[in-house]
Amino acid sequence: MRGIQGKRVLITGAAGGIGRATAQRFFDEGARLLLCDVRALADTSLAALFPERMDYVVGDISTEAGLSAVEAAFGDAGVDVLVNNAGITRDKSSLKMTNDDWDRVIAVNLTAVFRLSQLVARKMKERGRGGVILNAASVVAHTGNFGQANYAATKAGLIGLTKTMARELGRAGIRVNAVAPGFIDTPMARAVPEAHIAGLCERTPLARLGKPEDIAAAYCFLASDDAAFITGTCLNVDGGLVI
Ligand SMILES: NC(=O)c1ccc[n+]([C@@H]2O[C@H](COP(=O)([O-])OP(=O)(O)OC[C@H]3O[C@@H](n4cnc5c(N)ncnc54)[C@H](O)[C@@H]3O)[C@@H](O)[C@H]2O)c1
Repeated sequence: MRGIQGKRVLITGAAGGIGRATAQRFFDEGARLLLCDVRALADTSLAALFPERMDYVVGDISTEAGLSAVEAAFGDAGVDVLVNNAGITRDKSSLKMTNDDWDRVIAVNLTAVFRLSQLVARKMKERGRGGVILNAASVVAHTGNFGQANYAATKAGLIGLTKTMARELGRAGIRVNAVAPGFIDTPMARAVPEAHIAGLCERTPLARLGKPEDIAAAYCFLASDDAAFITGTCLNVDGGLVI
């Protein structure tokens, strides 16, 4: 895709299903990667790419220490593209959800995204070369989902954050967009009971779960110059699930 070659791309949650595919896709398009996850790189097939065009930070982006480690890694050079992909679930019906379930999901899925975007966008503005910020929303932001009050609230919150930062940063040439995956075949989705997954496939016009590569392609497109006039949008990549 146009304009990815040589770009500095920071991806959070890079050891997970979608993060790994996204890192691979940007790497294949010629980007220089800065990856971050609470899990070590040794867990993943990405280890094979290291250290060519890649740095890896083990850190929790919901903590000051984790954010500082990532900030130190991108340093004065900053990044051209930030993919806020890291996310967690702590599912329980609303009446059973504990304060800790609520707080932890808000901290990782929403507050950490805001904090990291703020750090990255300040640097992008200072450098004066624009940039792209991409956020991992979800179709449940539009539909809600049983047992996911905390998660759905963060994903809906990310869409509001995306639109707001797009308005605020557009003049600086910084585009901000979200991707809302449907059910994607990763460990996160496989935590859902098998019968529920079968039902989802039935209700999906394209009749399958998504692949991590489907989401990686959307991120790559939105980061590319082919999406130069797209900002403040949330792109559903869900096989038509929420039509
Ligand atoms: N899989 C799906 O069906 C689906 C659907 C909609 C949205 N999403 C979103 O896409 C993103 C990726 O999902 P996935 O399915 O690849 O999940 P995953 O669990 O496979 O990967 C998430 C990664 O984030 C990392 N992570 C978690 N907390 C972190 C923290 N505090 N700091 C740094 N890293 C952290 C995890 O270690 C993990 O490697 C998430 O934001 C998720 O909410 C996924």
